[in-house]
Amino acid sequence: MDDLRQKYLGLVSRAADEAALEEVRLAALGKKGEVSLLMRTLGQMSPEERQSAGPKFNALRNEIDAALKARKEALADAALDARLQAEWLDVTLPGRPRPAGTIHPVSQVTEEVTAIFADMGFRVAEGPQIESDWYNFDALNLAPEHPARQEHDTFFMARAEGDNRPPHVLRTHTSPVQIRAMQAQGAPIRVIAPGRVYRMDMDQTHSPMFHQIEGMAIDRDISMANLKWVLEEFFTAFFGVKVKTRFRASHFPFTEPSAEVDIQCSWVGGQLKIGEGDGWMEVLGSGMMHPKVLKAGGIDPDEWQGFAFGMGIDRIAMLKYGIPDLRAFFESDLRWLRHYGFAALDVPTLRGGVNR
Ligand code: PHE
Repeated sequence: MDDLRQKYLGLVSRAADEAALEEVRLAALGKKGEVSLLMRTLGQMSPEERQSAGPKFNALRNEIDAALKARKEALADAALDARLQAEWLDVTLPGRPRPAGTIHPVSQVTEEVTAIFADMGFRVAEGPQIESDWYNFDALNLAPEHPARQEHDTFFMARAEGDNRPPHVLRTHTSPVQIRAMQAQGAPIRVIAPGRVYRMDMDQTHSPMFHQIEGMAIDRDISMANLKWVLEEFFTAFFGVKVKTRFRASHFPFTEPSAEVDIQCSWVGGQLKIGEGDGWMEVLGSGMMHPKVLKAGGIDPDEWQGFAFGMGIDRIAMLKYGIPDLRAFFESDLRWLRHYGFAALDVPTLRGGVNR
């Protein structure tokens, strides 16, 4: 018994992990374990022998069993300690700062404009930035020899050698979306189309890429009066003040009659203010849609008529948020973006129009 005790207590204390410990347990206390076999010899003993041997055997078994359990706990504790060491984490450390981006003023203003026109029943339509010259010019009553084509300072895409089709262009305005929307939906229709446009032009107030928003409403009795109301309603909601507008007779091949629209503003000490003073700022071109344009969109001009307008998004963003230089819009200077950008969750700032 002493040999068995020595042997197994030694093995238990030297077992390096739980698997080794389990082997020791089986060798001692398993069905065919040495201690179990010893216990079985009790059966062949006389009652007297059994009386003295029984308690000793039991004590031996209990002692080994207790040693196994103690060792098992110690191993588990050691394993936990090792994990705690390895996976230690200081939850009191300050978080790692993550740079937060901002919403570009053009995106913010596009959202604002879209929300205001959505309230007046206009949905958003889209078209490609690389456009065929038919959509960008011909369908809008700008024939190839039309002088206004040259005025647009168009970027032409290259064609493969031997391909004699007219080149595609980077759209010079959002007006081709008028045609695409008419073709897709027919009349009646009310859409706006915000997006990028391109012209070869670069100075403090012009960038070769800029943004426009096109508006178009076609129905049986749409008139210039509807155009004026919609625009005044829009400016009031967008700038949050009643803004006087000035409609100047103008010419666009795709509208007849045509008007350029200015809004009232003042320049005081180099600071621009909207809705006051006796200055005027041109912000859009507009007019009643030309019958040829309706026809190009598949709409019968004897039955339907409509207005259209095109407005510079960057321009009105500068006006609303007091941003002086257009070129800075597209330089991706982080300091500029942090200063003029909007937080991701900023709700578009609008105010209800006077007539609501
Ligand atoms: N497409 C014109 C421009 O870019 C604006 C415009 C749109 C004028 C619709 C009239 C009607 O200048």
